[in-house]
Amino acid sequence: MKNTDYQSASEIILFGAVGDLSRRKLLPALFQLDQAGLLNPDSRIIGVARQVMDISSFTAFVEQNLKEFVEQDLNTEIMERFKSRLVFHQLDFKETQSYVGLAEVLANGHQTRVYYFSTPPDIYGDITDGLNSADLITDSDRVVMEKPIGHCLASSKVINDQVSRYFNENQIYRIDHYLGKETVLNLLVLRFANSLFTNNWDRDSIDHVQITVAESVGIEGRWGFYDEAGQMRDMIQNHLLQILSLLAMEPPADLEADSIRAEKLKVIKALAPINRQNIAEKTVRGQYTDGFLNGRSVPGYLNEDGANKTSNTETFVAIKTEINNWRWKGVPFYLRTGKRMPIKHSEIVVHFKQQPHNIFNDSYADLPSNKLTIRLQPDEGVELQMMNKIPGIASQMNIQENTLDLSFSKTYENKRVVDAYERLMLEVVNGNQSLFVSREEVEAAWLWADSIIDAWQSSNNKPKPYAAGSWGPVSSISLIARDDRQWVE
Ligand code: BG6
Repeated sequence: MKNTDYQSASEIILFGAVGDLSRRKLLPALFQLDQAGLLNPDSRIIGVARQVMDISSFTAFVEQNLKEFVEQDLNTEIMERFKSRLVFHQLDFKETQSYVGLAEVLANGHQTRVYYFSTPPDIYGDITDGLNSADLITDSDRVVMEKPIGHCLASSKVINDQVSRYFNENQIYRIDHYLGKETVLNLLVLRFANSLFTNNWDRDSIDHVQITVAESVGIEGRWGFYDEAGQMRDMIQNHLLQILSLLAMEPPADLEADSIRAEKLKVIKALAPINRQNIAEKTVRGQYTDGFLNGRSVPGYLNEDGANKTSNTETFVAIKTEINNWRWKGVPFYLRTGKRMPIKHSEIVVHFKQQPHNIFNDSYADLPSNKLTIRLQPDEGVELQMMNKIPGIASQMNIQENTLDLSFSKTYENKRVVDAYERLMLEVVNGNQSLFVSREEVEAAWLWADSIIDAWQSSNNKPKPYAAGSWGPVSSISLIARDDRQWVE
């Protein structure tokens, strides 16, 4: 894309503009787009919040957060340009009358409006009603909804119904920010631009797959929200299922939103159900206790500020699942994600099948299988573990396991890894829904997740303790060890 290849001007209206997501991610992402010349000179950013603020304090708030959260040095000229785009509007989200004032702030209606809902989802309906009552929705406007969309299938339907009263499905952008990560996008390239993998991507070639999304952070002062959600709703229902579906889907006909989303949906619908009968065998839930991280003592979940000491919410989940279709029948997918694990580390490891017969028995008795590792973050990249001959005369066939390493930092030196929100914000402005989740996907994911949550509740399944700074409860090791396999550490 050329520097001036931006779309026509748009008005980006951030609801919840002084919230955590806005200051850490959304404003820095918009700044980066501006810096890259991808925002139309006439585009404006309208911050909307409950707080009473004038434009100069909002501008100061934005500048201070950009200094904190944009990694590079800030160019003064671009900072001034960015600040000149800012507008602030105070609004009571639930008060219809408030939206009349917003209408006065917005431009004459010739620009595409992008309404970004970065507020608790239970007020998405109120905001939509307010916008409609002030006649602020046209067919060319777009709405972006942050996860979580609901707490279960039923509540997600309520929210989606509320928003779709006034926005058509092709105007609704449901964010799962993992879909904007470079390495998650690279899954499409890896699978469909390399015949090596396109042709060896099924039950005949692959033994099993592991997906780990480990975080060292705890719940970061979000106790109230997190305790209602837990790791199943916060991470598995969305991020991990999205990764899994991109990894396992059939080749889409093209890169259009409908083609990709239809294939992902088929995978989610084909997930083997987990219910009360198999819950103990297929899942492990855990909760972190006091422990140590980087030599520092950290409190357990129940000792965090504001904690309810009797909470049974899980901060770790491991699941063994299967996809009931022709391509994957019988191939286990092990998912694992948790807070307060030793490091932030997310990766997919695809374990190929072992050779049926080993002719190198004399030098290597137990020939390892090939492993493809896709490192999502940090140190993004792809690695393939292969067998190789060690050069030398002494032994004719001295062989060794080696790694082909396509680490982003080595392969694309000096290239900044773009943040997921930059990519996603740009796609919304450009009107491309392919990296956003369809309503059907959200609902299919809830259906599967609800069954697990219900089974935990009805079988009184309590989370197993694990020390902060460890890799989760011991039973998560047994989950995979029962199949004579182990987690890649
Ligand atoms: C969010 C979750 O969606 O993703 C957080 O609500 C989690 O609990 C975060 O920490 C992880 O995102 P990332 O990009 O840091 O892996």
